[in-house]
Amino acid sequence: MTGVDPHHLVVLVTGGTSGYGLATATRFLAEGARVIVTGRRQARLDAFVAEHGDRAHALCFDVRDRQACIDALDSLPAPFDAIDVLVNNAGLALGLQKAWAADLDDWQTMIETNCLALATMARLVLPGMRSRGRGHIVDIGSISGSWPYPGGHVYGATKAFVKQFSTNLRTDLVDSPIRVTNIEPGASETEFSLVRFKGDADRAAATYDGFEALRPEDVAEAVYWATTLPPHVDIARIELWPTRQAPAGITVGRDG
Ligand SMILES: NC(=O)c1ccc[n+]([C@@H]2O[C@H](COP(=O)([O-])OP(=O)(O)OC[C@H]3O[C@@H](n4cnc5c(N)ncnc54)[C@H](OP(=O)(O)O)[C@@H]3O)[C@@H](O)[C@H]2O)c1
Repeated sequence: MTGVDPHHLVVLVTGGTSGYGLATATRFLAEGARVIVTGRRQARLDAFVAEHGDRAHALCFDVRDRQACIDALDSLPAPFDAIDVLVNNAGLALGLQKAWAADLDDWQTMIETNCLALATMARLVLPGMRSRGRGHIVDIGSISGSWPYPGGHVYGATKAFVKQFSTNLRTDLVDSPIRVTNIEPGASETEFSLVRFKGDADRAAATYDGFEALRPEDVAEAVYWATTLPPHVDIARIELWPTRQAPAGITVGRDG
């Protein structure tokens, strides 16, 4: 069985300025692919391109802005314009209050970023993939799309959307060689908690106290593996946990 040769791949990673996205972009570059990274932090994007040279390209835009997504993709020069792999990774959790106390702006940002922007990016790259007769969309979901936790309400719901969107995409694409993979990691040490707790570094660090969380490179490995398997193999879902994290089971709210 011959896998996909990474040297022939153009990979677009949304949210490539930190965490999983940066690790995934770095991994593909190390394997010889061409990589486009996106994000809103221009300085980090510039540093990435400066470090990796002409096999790297950067696009600075907010994925929540549909026209900005369209313009960014339209601006891609050859050969970066023929995207083989879209890693739909940009996303975030905001806050951990119970649902009745949550910030409605946080809910809107999570839904717009994790659901609408992710679907929009897929919609925009799919016509090119279909016309070239190859492609792979990797949607980064989360264990929280399947497993609840207190304060996870909308974040978990956005990742359940990612799961179902990925499954439905596979159904639409079954007449083509285009693959779709939903990767659902557990707790990982990235900037995720710093973002969730709005810059509170102590609270973010406490998230990872006392156990070894996943590293961005662990998730990058899963993305790389799924996308370089032979073309007739589609890994539909990967649930990737830290060894010391597990679902806590069903609970009861008792009186008194
Ligand atoms: N860490 C975890 O425990 C964990 C677990 C399961 C799933 N996930 C998911 O994994 C994905 C990556 O998260 P991470 O842990 O790597 O967090 P991270 O280090 O905070 O990275 C998030 C990335 O998303 C980008 N991003 C966020 N909002 C954006 C927007 N509106 N427009 C453009 N880019 C945006 C950020 O770039 P800029 O700030 O430069 O825009 C950044 O590059 C997310 O979808 C997250 O929900 C994380």
